[in-house]
Amino acid sequence: MKLKSPVGTRDIVAPESWIWAKVIAEFSRNCGNAGYDWLLTPIFEDTQVFQRAVGGSTDIVQKEMYDFQDKSGRNFSLRPEETASVVRSFIEHRPAVLPWKVHYWGPMFRYERPQAGRYRQFYQLGIEALGVEDPSIDVEVISILWDFLVELGITSMTLRINSLGDALCRENYLESLHNFLLTKQTSLCDAHRDRISENPQRVLDCKTQQCIEATRGAPEHYLFLCDPCRDHFEAVKEQLGAMGIPFVHDPRLVRGLDYYTRTTFEISSGILEGAQNALGGGGRYDGLVEEMGGPPTPAIGFSIGLERLVSALGFDSASKVTLTYSEKIPQIFVVDLAQRGPANLLFRELRRNNMRVMCEYGRRSAKAQFRSADRSQASIAIIVGQEEADRQCVVVRPLKHKEILLPLIESYGKSNEDANMQGLKASDQIPGFQLQSGQAEIGIDKVVGLLNSVLLPALPTSRVANSTSVIGIGT
Ligand code: HAM
Repeated sequence: MKLKSPVGTRDIVAPESWIWAKVIAEFSRNCGNAGYDWLLTPIFEDTQVFQRAVGGSTDIVQKEMYDFQDKSGRNFSLRPEETASVVRSFIEHRPAVLPWKVHYWGPMFRYERPQAGRYRQFYQLGIEALGVEDPSIDVEVISILWDFLVELGITSMTLRINSLGDALCRENYLESLHNFLLTKQTSLCDAHRDRISENPQRVLDCKTQQCIEATRGAPEHYLFLCDPCRDHFEAVKEQLGAMGIPFVHDPRLVRGLDYYTRTTFEISSGILEGAQNALGGGGRYDGLVEEMGGPPTPAIGFSIGLERLVSALGFDSASKVTLTYSEKIPQIFVVDLAQRGPANLLFRELRRNNMRVMCEYGRRSAKAQFRSADRSQASIAIIVGQEEADRQCVVVRPLKHKEILLPLIESYGKSNEDANMQGLKASDQIPGFQLQSGQAEIGIDKVVGLLNSVLLPALPTSRVANSTSVIGIGT
């Protein structure tokens, strides 16, 4: 049997994996600056954590969870999202100082029908802020999401916001929506025709043309908001406007999880495919901590889908996340003609000095090693010959960009001669520096200095064409 990754999952291989690394690092930096510490939670939890938080009537809990029993018969689930785990963690640790602000990234699992932009194992980046009711934290959270996407260079995006009210004012709304849907029952899609009573809001979230048509003219939540909820929503809109963050109020935005109250929001990309175009979303969940056994604690957060974000970056010509030559391609290739001893030490020295370095294995001939060096696209070869090694020297040979590197090596040699003439102490000089036929011999203890201070900074930092794309997956 040919072994493959499970349906709906995929390997993230280089160079795309390097883009992921950059995006994650950038996200962590942004969140850290705003006071959101990094939180790691287990990727599986007691099934009840998700049943209670995400909601029994949601598709996620009803159809999409990866549930299993461990060897002692306990029921666990792979996490379908992170907010529930963050709340569980908050209740368990009872942080003394509020707000408790955290960020996270990692894999989530939902048994969905796989297609481009929708996976069974996918990754999210997200933040959660627990302990603040003030609308300014809604604006902080939304602006962190917006600014991060803008900073990455995503241009074609729309921020939609809505308010779902609180537990009290929602009741009146749900009753009115329910009555409206009963009049449209026969026009709804198969999945929702008989499920109106279970959770009428879910119907507004349905992407089928039938439900979209049938729910035109449905009562709008905004008209049912109580005064405190309306004031909260108005304050959020006003502060977002004052910050210059463009948004539209979308009264149909309900989102697919049951825990939301008041502010909800979603950012979609104009360049991703229709149904899977949500880059990220979130909202308030003011009742959830208490529902899960903690003290009453207002809270808000968002999550971004990393696969979708990286896809959007690949399509967006304004994307700022591309790889530079030095990130994707080795800078230096060590050619070893002296059978490992000195080459091992040199390789270690170069990588410890932050250079991207490669070599060949298996005692191959000089010709074979140079062929590999050319294929690797490294700019510079460092040749460790036995005779030079005996004299504590190596040879530096530019493989690419010779027109830039050779004059630099030459003037480095000259400045050494000058230093020599000025009688500098021996340790400042380059022993045996010789430039001949496109390469230079240099003391092994001076090679890092020559590379780091002279040659590598001079290499063009041209960008490697962004090779990320939506990668199709089987069903
Ligand atoms: P969500 O809308 O279910 O919200 O997921 C957030 C993002 O994860 C989506 O906008 C999408 O980009 C990505 N995503 C979801 N499912 C998949 C999938 N099957 N394949 C690929 N990407 C996917 C939440 O998960 C909430 N926890 C957000 C939140 C945080 N609310 C408050 N705090």
